[in-house]
Amino acid sequence: MKIKDSLSWATTQLEKACERPRFEAELLLAYHLKKERTYLHAFDDSEVERVEEFEELVQRRANHEPYEYIVGSASFYDIELDVEHGVLIPRPETEILIDLVAEIIEKEKLTNIAEVGVGSGAISIVLARKFPNLSITATDICDTPLKVAKANAQKYKVDTRVNIIKSNILDEVQDELELVVSNPPYIANDFKLEKNVGEFEPKEALFGGVVGDELLKQIVLDVKAKNIKYLACEMGYDQKESMEQFFSEIGVSSYTFYKDLANFDRGFVITF
Ligand SMILES: C[S@@+](CC[C@H](N)C(=O)[O-])C[C@H]1O[C@@H](n2cnc3c(N)ncnc32)[C@H](O)[C@@H]1O
Repeated sequence: MKIKDSLSWATTQLEKACERPRFEAELLLAYHLKKERTYLHAFDDSEVERVEEFEELVQRRANHEPYEYIVGSASFYDIELDVEHGVLIPRPETEILIDLVAEIIEKEKLTNIAEVGVGSGAISIVLARKFPNLSITATDICDTPLKVAKANAQKYKVDTRVNIIKSNILDEVQDELELVVSNPPYIANDFKLEKNVGEFEPKEALFGGVVGDELLKQIVLDVKAKNIKYLACEMGYDQKESMEQFFSEIGVSSYTFYKDLANFDRGFVITF
């Protein structure tokens, strides 16, 4: 099949699953051919080699599998992270959390921080690249994120400063820490997610408990108990009220909430 015919076929296949079927068809074909998208336009009369393999990629995407899992890579901030099933695909809104934390690190000249729930390594690797004197201990409870984050940290040559360990929250972390950052699972266990998320992304990265904010609250308690000065967390758009109520119950008085680009409440920074 020629490139132009393959693209027409793929576009039709992707119409139900994708908002921009033609664009995604082009991305998948460019990935399959190991070429830039511009090549597809310049050589649209060429035959597609191993066309059955391309058709398989398209069928996976038509079945709502996220593009990032199909190609094994996700763009985040200024880096490309390897991802695979079992690891959350990093989201653009988490870049806001990084910028807030970076402001504190810069202003307070912090050198020793931790991340809870490292996933692909997105937050820790970007921060380590921004601050050459920063050491980060990053935890996760699942083996696939631990493996993938280590590989990504090596890829960006920050593995000597990002120490990735298996731990529930900060239980296994003995260091003196100045700040903790986390994008924990914060969705209620019974929330019905879209197919591309609910059927493909890891449950451990999404669901935070019956209400959804249980792990968030436990992180606040653990950071407070360890006398760490700063905590910055992402949260669900509807969790501001319950978190604020919780802060008042446990005597936390210095905090700010932040919003995402769609103007939804998206997280908080506590100064203990
Ligand atoms: C929403 S994902 C965030 C991943 C990554 N930090 C990011 O922003 O893309 C949450 C991560 O927390 C991990 N996690 C869940 N419960 C945890 C716990 N009790 N302690 C440490 N990590 C946990 C999950 O395995 C998952 O990798």
